[in-house]
Amino acid sequence: MCGIVGYVGKKEASPILVEGLSKLEYRGYDSAGIAVIDKDVIEISKCKGRLANLKDKLDTSPVKGKIGIGHTRWATHGEPSDINSHPHTSENGSISVVHNGIIENYLHLREWLSSKGYKFYSETDTEVIPNLICHFYNGDLLDAVMKAVSKMEGSYALGVVSCDEPDKIVAVRKDSPLVVGVGTDEFFIASDVPAILNRTRDVYYLNDKEFVVLNDAGVKIYSPEGDEIKKELVTVTWDADAAEKGGYEHFMIKEIHEQPKAIRDTMTSRIIPGQPITLDNIKMTKADIENIDRIYIVACGTAYHAGVVGKYVIEKLAKIPVEIDIASEFRYRDPIINEKTLMIALSQSGETADTLAALREAKTKGARVIAITNVVGSSIAREADDVIYTWAGLEIAVASTKAYTTQLILMYVVALYFAQHKNTLGVDEIEKIKNEMLSLPEKVSEVLKHKEVLQKFAANNYMHKDMFFLGRGLDYAVAMEGSLKTKEISYIHSEAYAGGELKHGTIALIEKGTAVIAIATQESLYGKMISNVKEVTTRGANVLGFALEGNTSIESTVDSAFYLPKTIDILSPVLSVIPLQLVAYYMAIQKGCDVDKPRNLAKSVTVE
Ligand code: M6R
Repeated sequence: MCGIVGYVGKKEASPILVEGLSKLEYRGYDSAGIAVIDKDVIEISKCKGRLANLKDKLDTSPVKGKIGIGHTRWATHGEPSDINSHPHTSENGSISVVHNGIIENYLHLREWLSSKGYKFYSETDTEVIPNLICHFYNGDLLDAVMKAVSKMEGSYALGVVSCDEPDKIVAVRKDSPLVVGVGTDEFFIASDVPAILNRTRDVYYLNDKEFVVLNDAGVKIYSPEGDEIKKELVTVTWDADAAEKGGYEHFMIKEIHEQPKAIRDTMTSRIIPGQPITLDNIKMTKADIENIDRIYIVACGTAYHAGVVGKYVIEKLAKIPVEIDIASEFRYRDPIINEKTLMIALSQSGETADTLAALREAKTKGARVIAITNVVGSSIAREADDVIYTWAGLEIAVASTKAYTTQLILMYVVALYFAQHKNTLGVDEIEKIKNEMLSLPEKVSEVLKHKEVLQKFAANNYMHKDMFFLGRGLDYAVAMEGSLKTKEISYIHSEAYAGGELKHGTIALIEKGTAVIAIATQESLYGKMISNVKEVTTRGANVLGFALEGNTSIESTVDSAFYLPKTIDILSPVLSVIPLQLVAYYMAIQKGCDVDKPRNLAKSVTVE
């Protein structure tokens, strides 16, 4: 995680670096810092805590210069503190570095450098990097960085400046994202495009171990072997306003309200009544699809929960066995993979290190990989055989919302695409599902109009330490996502349980007043689910129940009911997750939590 930026041009670097960091704070916010070169002196300003602390510091003690690097940190090695903040500087003060990633052999490098007389002051893995570069420096910064990274194991995106070559930034990446921005007489590096979107839309996406040297005359990119290379300059089409709150109090609530549009955009051109489903430029033939004997959906967090829904629907509609795996577990459990295996790597950011590692493992073993991601040009998009994009738009809040619902949409699209090619569903059945899908944006908008019951439940329950989410079938899959939202933004411990499983142990935790959200949208399981809800109300639980419009009988079992527009069973997760996102949001607000930047978290987890 962490966010890095760099600027070289004709303007003062410090405000531009801070502006860039403000767009990257979602990647980590334990500390922030910048290094700016004026003439041949590196000036550093850094401190623990949010970027606001750094801004205050810079207001009282500005740093001047037209070239610099900046960092916002999500702590891995070493607690959040001033001393552990980036940039880190070589002991002789000549080289400063910002780093996103983890240097896995840093202890070995630290010992080696210590034996040569280098001293270390922080607890970070990063501090070895400037010293290593310094050790190899012999009048050529690029050469020294190349030599240093050849000794490093792990992941890194680096921005490096040196007072011996005060006109340039050297940058490189491996397994951590980095883009290079090209403006008019000014050039940038950043972990992610929003950091530079106010300044330029023209970017180079670097591949692993490509190096870049930036000065105020331009950008030169080098291959891992050190040869200068030409790359395609990509023009980003995102709307810069997407990175603003647009009148909402938080990005999360803004993004919750953007879901009707995000869902509609994600279906556009893929789902058209009367026409076969199309899947972008996917290169799979009918024979390739028939050849698949197993699908692994691999993802983390919220994307994993979308994958759980994907398993249900692909198996149900396309009749292909699907396993759903947590990415960080997948590669270590020796999964059975061969050329008949398809992996679907699901990731909003396209940069999640665990998912990327699982993708690489699957490819090495001969599987074909489809990436489903929201970020064009991301590592996962580039390394997969095929990519399908969720057109959710920029998602800034750490808690994922519109990425989840658009991932669900693509799970349905993929299931229908395979069903269409394998003839596991008739044309009429496919048309019926497609038409129902096309009505989802309207129905989500409808759900978003009715918040009172949810606000009341949040107000009455935000002070609880524990909460339970119950559901059966796809409602259980959605319950997992509701539980994660609650944990991550309102810090309430919660568990999602399959309605029928609770009685096998966990029901012992239910007592008078225990807060429970029961989701009962699956028509085929409604009766059974109501019985499970009765089991907890009998023991005193305070239950908010979700049901489809018309199923008013739920009212006799629960304390309060929330109704969702009618839809078919497989599509209900798109609707039922909306009130779950809202309840988590309202509870977090009641508790005074920092909704968009929950403690200990970062949006993009680029370390394993
Ligand atoms: O970018 P990704 O979809 O790969 O991210 C995966 C998880 O880190 C992410 O979904 C995380 O769980 C969210 N904070 C949940 O809201």
